[in-house]
Amino acid sequence: RQPVDSPLYPLLNAAAEHYRQALKSHPQRKYAVEYLKGRGLTGEIARDFGIGFAPPGWDNLFKQLGADTLQQKVMIDAGLLIENAENGRRYDRFRDRIMFPIRDSRGRVIAFGGRVLGDDKPKYLNSPETPVFHKGQELYGLYEARKHNRDLDEIMVVEGYMDVIALAQQGLRNAVATLGTATSEEHLKRLFRIVPSVLFCFDGDAAGRNAAWRALESTLPSLQDGRRARFLFLPDGEDPDTLVRAEGTDAFRARINQHAQPLADYFFQQLCEEADPRSLEGKAHLVTLAAPLIDKIPGNNLRALMRQRLSEITGLSSEALSQVASAPRSHT
Ligand code: CTP
Ligand code: MN
Ligand code: MN
Ligand code: MN
Ligand code: MN
Repeated sequence: RQPVDSPLYPLLNAAAEHYRQALKSHPQRKYAVEYLKGRGLTGEIARDFGIGFAPPGWDNLFKQLGADTLQQKVMIDAGLLIENAENGRRYDRFRDRIMFPIRDSRGRVIAFGGRVLGDDKPKYLNSPETPVFHKGQELYGLYEARKHNRDLDEIMVVEGYMDVIALAQQGLRNAVATLGTATSEEHLKRLFRIVPSVLFCFDGDAAGRNAAWRALESTLPSLQDGRRARFLFLPDGEDPDTLVRAEGTDAFRARINQHAQPLADYFFQQLCEEADPRSLEGKAHLVTLAAPLIDKIPGNNLRALMRQRLSEITGLSSEALSQVASAPRSHT
């Protein structure tokens, strides 16, 4: 997936080191440290994730690493410098931000996310697509989670950097984030190569609930028998970061145990909200919505059981359903 060797790797690594150093020793580091403390992070967890600080100014990194024009070109390719199209001036992409290095599965730094310290926009600035960074494929925190535990049995998928880090800080070291993109089939294939169980825990808002349904759709093609996915929906306005800090590890674990919804339950609950199975028309619509999705499940037993459940809800026999599912439908 990634090039084995690239001049971008040592450069990105040097940049991560530069940002880490700035958090330790830059004259303006104080408010960055205060910000991280204010969000409940210890120095230890900041070190574990290699968190850094891009100080204010247009040329901190430029001066540190942009020794010659060749080097500067590589920095542009790596997404670290931006070149002004009109006057050709080159300047640091990340300025006055908390820096989160994004690593690949081998631990190499491949990109950064940078967060403003206040309420400026955009809240997060991420590296652009580069030869070593394909945003839709990466999972923030996966390297760190596996480094901590080679024998994970479940991975939690969350939305954001701070969700991963706050959970880790609270001892829940199995979270990864999709970095503001939809959870893709590719993501799920990767995760299920590592663990048999995936727990989605998105923000308690409309965007989070939409993300959950899209994640369900991306999960279906990976659901061989023996694998499972679950969904934990959070109270309105909460995300894993705010919630785990508010209620603590034990309560958060208890919440998972009590409220994480199996994929099949969420699947039928959601579809029954869209197509009310109390009327025949609703049942017909439900079959139209559910059958093609169920068909994507490779696990023979799970697929059969979900067809059976659909059959129980609609009264349509399993045989009739499998004909519906395989017959070509035309929408005119
Ligand atoms: N995101 C992004 N660019 C933005 C906003 C969000 O890339 N302008 C991505 C980030 O990876 C972010 C995730 O989407 O972590 C979730 O967004 P959101 O819930 O808005 O942010 P939080 O992670 O909750 O941010 P914070 O707690 O730091 O305020
Ligand atoms: Mn590639
Ligand atoms: Mn959100
Ligand atoms: Mn948040
Ligand atoms: Mn959030």
